[in-house]
Amino acid sequence: MSYLEIRGGRPLSGRVRVQGAKNSALPILAAALLAPGESAIRNCPRLTDVSATLDILRLLGCRVEREGDEVRVDAACLERRDIPHSLMREMRSSVIFLGALLARLGEAELSYPGGCELGPRPIDLHLASLRALGAEIREEQGALLARAGRNGLRGREICLSIPSVGATENVMLAACGAEGTTTIVGAAREPEIEDLQGFLRCLGARVSGAGSPVVTVTGGAPLHPGEYRVMGDRIAGATYLCAAAAAGGEVELSGLDPGTLTAVLDCLERAGCEVHTGGEILSLTARGHLRGIGAVRTAPYPGFPTDAQAILMAALAGGEGSTLFVENMFDSRYHHVDELRRMGAEIQVAGRAAMVTGAGRLRGAEVRSADLRGGAALAVAGLGAEGITRVTGLPHIRRGYEDLARDLRRLGADVREIPG
Ligand code: EPZ
Repeated sequence: MSYLEIRGGRPLSGRVRVQGAKNSALPILAAALLAPGESAIRNCPRLTDVSATLDILRLLGCRVEREGDEVRVDAACLERRDIPHSLMREMRSSVIFLGALLARLGEAELSYPGGCELGPRPIDLHLASLRALGAEIREEQGALLARAGRNGLRGREICLSIPSVGATENVMLAACGAEGTTTIVGAAREPEIEDLQGFLRCLGARVSGAGSPVVTVTGGAPLHPGEYRVMGDRIAGATYLCAAAAAGGEVELSGLDPGTLTAVLDCLERAGCEVHTGGEILSLTARGHLRGIGAVRTAPYPGFPTDAQAILMAALAGGEGSTLFVENMFDSRYHHVDELRRMGAEIQVAGRAAMVTGAGRLRGAEVRSADLRGGAALAVAGLGAEGITRVTGLPHIRRGYEDLARDLRRLGADVREIPG
C-alpha cells in the first residue's frame, strides 16, 4: 500500500500554482451534457473524482478527450440516460447528472447515491425541487427513475430549506431544460456555483444571481457548446496555507482568487500568520507557534468551509492555546482526530464540538486517511511535527488532490510518495 513519507519540523518556502477546483469541475462536466457539440473545459484537475465523471460521460455516449489541463466533451450523440450503480458508487456527487439528463433527454435513471465517510448524505432537497419543476421520480430498489412530466419541465419558484450546494446545482441544470423562469430562493452561495453559472452562460443559458441567495434561470432555449476555464481550488489552497502555518516559513500561491478564502484567511491571521494578497499572488508567512483562535464554526459560504475544518485543526493542534471547532455541516467529520492524537494532539470531541488544546509540537507517527480532507490534514500535521510521519489511505487523497506530495515539495516540504 503506497504512502506519503513526510519529514517534518522544517519551515516551508516556495510558490505553487493551485489546481483547478474539484467542486467546480464536477458540476461543469455534468453540465456539458446540456449542449449538443464539443465543449472545452480548461484548468480541469486530474483527480479520481474527475476521472469517474469522465467515465460516466463516455458511458452516456459522449466523446471525451483530455489534452493537458483541457478536457473536451462532445455531447452531440447521447446513447443512454442511465448510470449503473458501479459508477454511481464511485462518487455520490454524480447525483448532479439527474438534473443534466432531465434537461437534455427528459429522463434519467441512476442508483441512489449512498452515504459516505462523512455520514448520511440525503438528497431529499434535490428530489423535492426536481419534482416541483415537473419531474416524475420513482424510487425503486435503490434506483431513481426520473422523467419529465407530460408537460415537460416547467420553471417556477423553488425554495431550498438548506443552502445545499448540490441541490442548487441540480436545479440550475434542470431549469435550463424547463420552459419559463425558475427562481431558486435560499440557493447556496459558494464560488463554485458562480463558476457553474459562468459555464452555463458560455453555453447560451440565461442564468443570473449565482453567489447570492437567489438564482434565476430562464430555460427552454437550445444551448450550444462553449469553452470555459475552471476556477482555482480554494480548499487545495487552504491546504497549502495551513501546511505553511503548521511548519512555519513563507509560501506564495497562484491560480486562485483570495476572495474565495476570506474565512480561512481570517482564522490564519488570528492564529498569528501574516497574509498578503497582491494581484494573482496570495502569500502567507508563519513564524513561531500558532495561537488558539477561540471558536471555528463550519457554515455555508461565506462562512468557514467544512472542507477546511480538518486541515485547520491539524495546523492548530501543533500550536499553543485552545480552539473550539463546531462541525455544523456533516454528522461524521472528525475521523482525523484519532489519527492526530497518535501524533500527540490533545483533542476532546463531544458530538459536533471538538476542543483542540495546542500541544506545542506534534510527533511524527504512522497515520491513516479515512476521508479526503482528513487525509490532507494528516499531511499538514506531519509537516509541523518533529520526525517522520507516514500517511496511508492515499486513494482518499487522490479524489481531491492531483499530486499532494508534488505540490508540497514545490513549497519546500520534504514529502515523498512511496509506492507500495
Ligand atoms: C458539496 O457537497 C461539496 N461536494 C462538499 O465537498 C462540501 O463539503 C459541501 O458541498 C458543503 O460545502 C461537491 O461539491 C462535489 P450540501 P454537497 O448539499 O452538495 C444537507 C469535498 O471534500 N442536505 O451543500 O453534497 C447535507 O446533509 C466535499 O470536496 C440535505 O439535508 O453538500 C449537509 O448537512 C465533501 N438534503 C448540508 O445539507 C439534501 O437534499 C450541506 O450539504 C442535500 C443536502
